[in-house]
Amino acid sequence: MLLIKNCKVLVNGEFLERSILVGGNGKITKIGVASELKSAADEVIDATGKHALPGAIDVHVHCREPGMTQKEDFLTASKAAVAGGVTTIFDMPNTKPATTTVALLEEKRKLAAAKCIVNYGFHFGATADNLEEIKKVLNIAAVKVYMGSSTGNLLVTDEKALNDIFGSGKRLMAHAENEAMIKANEEKYRGDSDGAKLHLKIRENSAAAKEVERAIAIGRKHGTRLHICHMSTKEETAIVAAAKKDYKLLSCEVAPHHLFLTADSETATKLGNYVKVNPPLRLKEDVAALWKAINEGVVDMIATDHAPHLREEKEQGYWNAPSGVPGLQTMLPLMLDAVNKGRVSLQQLIRLTSENPAAVFGIKGKGKLAVGMDADITLVDMHKEKTIKNDDMLSKCGWTPFDGWKVKGIVAATIVNGNVICSDGEIAEEKIRGKEVMFNGN
Ligand code: DOR
Ligand code: ZN
Ligand code: ZN
Repeated sequence: MLLIKNCKVLVNGEFLERSILVGGNGKITKIGVASELKSAADEVIDATGKHALPGAIDVHVHCREPGMTQKEDFLTASKAAVAGGVTTIFDMPNTKPATTTVALLEEKRKLAAAKCIVNYGFHFGATADNLEEIKKVLNIAAVKVYMGSSTGNLLVTDEKALNDIFGSGKRLMAHAENEAMIKANEEKYRGDSDGAKLHLKIRENSAAAKEVERAIAIGRKHGTRLHICHMSTKEETAIVAAAKKDYKLLSCEVAPHHLFLTADSETATKLGNYVKVNPPLRLKEDVAALWKAINEGVVDMIATDHAPHLREEKEQGYWNAPSGVPGLQTMLPLMLDAVNKGRVSLQQLIRLTSENPAAVFGIKGKGKLAVGMDADITLVDMHKEKTIKNDDMLSKCGWTPFDGWKVKGIVAATIVNGNVICSDGEIAEEKIRGKEVMFNGN
């Protein structure tokens, strides 16, 4: 048994000083004031002055296993997760091979079970001809459809195929960028070579807006539970906000790199192709629209789109450098800093990183600190400052776009299924493995 003493816990909308008792089964057995919790816990954490948040759930992670383990694997991705206060991750299907059959998902399940130190779930890849597999597959987070090419070769643009997939009864997760517009722009700018700004010209705002509109139109027709990945433009925030008024099964996420970086910033100019990412970094007015959409409740969750690539891959020049940035270890520190700066409240942050992901994807036993829930807990110190550094990154890629950024608000400890997996940045127990999450539906 584990006792976490005197932390601040959200109780009916207010942060109150409470202690949390965790049973041997990895679930929360009691939350109360310290004097009420006389227990024979064999492990006690004094969390005075710290906040206990329900562990962060990141619904968008590229763990790269199988096939691209030079970039990442389930162990290194999950180490980055715990160091960043993330206790559950959903893996993306654009691996090698891509996760597009039930048999391949079963293989991936074994890899994760052997290596992943946080809890995990899987997205399943859609192709133009795997509808039968989509209908058969069980206990997945969502079916991921790339309506616009990105890393890997998963891509579905055909209207009939999309209708079949959206009508499959599964939750859909859409990477929506218009492929024809991207291809036409690639031809137009073929001779250019300037990193984030060129990438923004090629994957222009209207390419995302157009395809998001298309996804929503098809989703509406079929009554699809539809989740829009990495919303990044002011145009999309308007489209999604309007659609949500009557399309109740629509949800969306925003990635930290789209909230904290712009294509024309000094950081992006310095980092060049390191910040080549799909969808691309945008401009100031887009970033402002995303924060506004967060504060208006249009954005359901923050998801990292953690997409590690090695330095040597990123240094190949614009046309050969792969797209994607890592983000698992830095999401919460950046967002805690944003809380300290008054951009979002801590209560909202809990909704964005725990409650809503659990509710939208129907995850059993997670998203809240309450009796009977899984003891996935992130202890944070809102007063401590830290500088994010490449050298501290546990992802195999070993770099972050936020190197050198000073943040106030840090992850002090991460508890997964009642086990203290990470404390003060030290990963305590690599032998303990996370569990596959269970979903209501799908
Ligand atoms: O930039 C990206 N990288 N966007 C994606 O959609 C895929 C990802 C990756 O897997 O590298
Ligand atoms: Zn994507
Ligand atoms: Zn992604």
